Amino acid sequence: MKLNPKAPRQPLPLLPPDVRLRGPEEVALGFSLGQVQVEALRCLQCKNPTCVEACPLHINVKEFIGLMAQGDFAGAFDKISEESPFPGICGRVCQHELYCERACLLGKKLQPVAIGSLERFAADYHRQSASNTPHPVALDGARVALVGSGPASLIAAYDLVRNGYRVSIFEALHGLGGVLAYGIPNFRLPREIIRDEVDRLRSMGVEFRTDFIVGKTCAVEDLFAQGFQAIFLGTGAGLPHLMNIPGENLIGVYTANEYLTRLNLMEAFRFPESDTPVRIGSRVVVVGGGNSAMDAARWSRRMGADTTIMFRRGRAELRARLEEIEHAEEEGVRFDFLAAPVRLFGDDKGVLQEVECIRMQLGEPDESGRPSPVPIPGSEFRMPVDTVVMAIGQSPNPTVQRATPQLLTQRGKVVIDADGQTNIPNVFAGGDVVRGGSTVILAMRDGRVAAAAIHRALEQQAQETSGLLAVAKKPAEEHQVSASLDNQILGKRLLTPEIAWLQVEAPEIAKHWKPGQFVIIRPTERSERIPLTIVDGDEATGSITLVVQAVGKTSRATVRLKVGDRLADLLGPLGQAASIEKVGNVLCVAGGVGVAELLPVARAFREAGNHVTALCGARSSAQIILDVELRSAADEVLWATDDGTAGLHGTVVDLMRAWWAGNACLLGIAHVIGPIPMMRAAAGVTREWAVPTYASLNPIMVDGTGMCGGCRVTVGGKVRFACVDGPEFDAHQVDFDELTRRTRAYLEQERVSRERHECSIGLGK
Ligand SMILES: Cc1cc2nc3c(=O)[nH]c(=O)nc-3n(C[C@H](O)[C@H](O)[C@H](O)COP(=O)(O)OP(=O)(O)OC[C@H]3O[C@@H](n4cnc5c(N)ncnc54)[C@H](O)[C@@H]3O)c2cc1C
Ligand code: FES
Repeated sequence: MKLNPKAPRQPLPLLPPDVRLRGPEEVALGFSLGQVQVEALRCLQCKNPTCVEACPLHINVKEFIGLMAQGDFAGAFDKISEESPFPGICGRVCQHELYCERACLLGKKLQPVAIGSLERFAADYHRQSASNTPHPVALDGARVALVGSGPASLIAAYDLVRNGYRVSIFEALHGLGGVLAYGIPNFRLPREIIRDEVDRLRSMGVEFRTDFIVGKTCAVEDLFAQGFQAIFLGTGAGLPHLMNIPGENLIGVYTANEYLTRLNLMEAFRFPESDTPVRIGSRVVVVGGGNSAMDAARWSRRMGADTTIMFRRGRAELRARLEEIEHAEEEGVRFDFLAAPVRLFGDDKGVLQEVECIRMQLGEPDESGRPSPVPIPGSEFRMPVDTVVMAIGQSPNPTVQRATPQLLTQRGKVVIDADGQTNIPNVFAGGDVVRGGSTVILAMRDGRVAAAAIHRALEQQAQETSGLLAVAKKPAEEHQVSASLDNQILGKRLLTPEIAWLQVEAPEIAKHWKPGQFVIIRPTERSERIPLTIVDGDEATGSITLVVQAVGKTSRATVRLKVGDRLADLLGPLGQAASIEKVGNVLCVAGGVGVAELLPVARAFREAGNHVTALCGARSSAQIILDVELRSAADEVLWATDDGTAGLHGTVVDLMRAWWAGNACLLGIAHVIGPIPMMRAAAGVTREWAVPTYASLNPIMVDGTGMCGGCRVTVGGKVRFACVDGPEFDAHQVDFDELTRRTRAYLEQERVSRERHECSIGLGK
């Protein structure tokens, strides 16, 4: 086999741009066998290969390419697997040009060896070959919990399991892979590659728990109490940055996280076959210059939009992978450099219409080391636009940090030492939660460093405690995390033909929930993720109660569930608990299905020693729900009905005024929950009375964990995320007009979906 370094670097075969725009199929097709032979023989097989050192995982690049040159692809795969379990993923998304390929000696004079494409070939060959057998590992070691299922945790799991540890990965979302799954599109990284590489870990004994958010479903210390001896936090940087410009809550303005999650994880590109919609008009502006920006722009092109990437610096400062930039250009994405939006304009329905931008020039380097963008006064210009995607960076997801105040952080990032150890003994961290937005390979390196440190720490602790038997091999006294949350419907009552009361098996949520909190559910695998308030929880039966009204497709599917069925997904408890204080007299106001949501709050106020009056509204007596339960939770319950068939003839706001006229008393707090017009009107009345009032808001949500920003609401002039900062806010400060508009963002899509459903069951004509 003769080396041939002078052969030209092999180009990666690609789908033609016009074909790419037809769907989410993978763009890069991978090397042919012939190309692999040529490319592998370009490798100089250096005596001291700098590429190995340059790879953050220290994959033995020289040896695996040497094996490929001999046609031993299985051997090459095994060689890579010594260091990395994810060659299919890394071969596709790692920025090789910054690491191994940059260090390739051949690159000094000619083009570097296409290491990434060779790595990918070895992985694909392995997937397709009969030798694709898992390697179970004997697991008798200590238990280690990894929080988040992104690349940092995945590689830590690989290393730990190879050392015999019993590893559980807890993931907040319903899909595994972190950004790989919700952020990076199929056309760059097909879902089956992630699935297969995750399955490989599963076959080695790694346990995966989806729909489990540490810091909410249970606390870090609960994991220790359940027998985990070390914990790794790989929770990523899922808190999107906003532009902080007027108009950014208009309908049609997305964060890249929400846009990409809807398209990638929820498959909105298939809508209406899938249930989750996304609004993409004919003109899209994506703001930013990183991988998220390229992914959002390339998706927009596939959805048929005329697409511009607007970046406040120049081309040289783009942070995305070179290949993504080139592919975006080939696919017709335009770039508008040295420009940034300053204001967004909408119509009277709050729908985005126009963006005002300003030109920039480059100034002195800022703290990122890149030239700072400096606005040019008077250079403002406007352009019409239907969709704006903010892809301007993200900060660490704050859930674990907020629930673990003793955890040392700096600007939201978890602080670690060189071993990945946090300030809490046996709690380690790595990846984007430590770095802020970074790269797959650096997250993996962090996971590897932490896994090695966990191994050392547990061995040392074992020697210190017994001196005889390594803790690493000694099963800890342990309690299993409660039996799998299989989300079974244990009980069901129809409160009205449209409103169902459901008792759902959810032991962890039942243990940790508080009044005011909610869950995110999906009744079926195809459904949207929707929030539902937790009405009650019972630790003894390990169940929670939900009340759901059939409004849209997903809620209708939930109402249709029968006892014994299972929710496809159930995540919680989410959001902040209601603020329950002892203030004397409390007024609870609810309308429609809000009555059910009010129940736990009213009960908690009463248990805190308050006198609770519940004023509730319904359309008619037939629509009155949970009256008996409410009477046991409040001191006084009064109803108003629109048709006068029960209680006061009028709205709940009429009832408030009537009640106040006869009961002018010292009212400590009011709590309102229900349809937005009702909450707005009720808050208007309590403002007149000067009574502090909280409203429990119900915006559209996707993840419920602070990752997408889709639930943003304006309160007191500030943008807040209802799922993490709320759902309860000062009702006198809430911008109800904006909330109303934002909840109507998908009315048209819901209509399409409903009509389609009616057609499919024969009601169409
Ligand atoms: C759109 C996009 C494209 C990108 N493209 C590339 C690329 O091409 N190449 C590259 O190298 N890098 C890319 N990156 C960056 C890269 O994906 C990240 O740096 C990397 O995924 C970080 O890995 P991680 O394991 O730290 O966290 P993540 O991948 O962010 O995973 C964290 C996981 O933790 C979960 N989680 C959070 N909080 C909790 C909790 N309390 N309990 C349980 N689970 C929790 C989250 O749901 C998430 O699934 C891209 C990033 C984005 C957003
Ligand atoms: S941030 Fe996604 S739903 Fe709140």
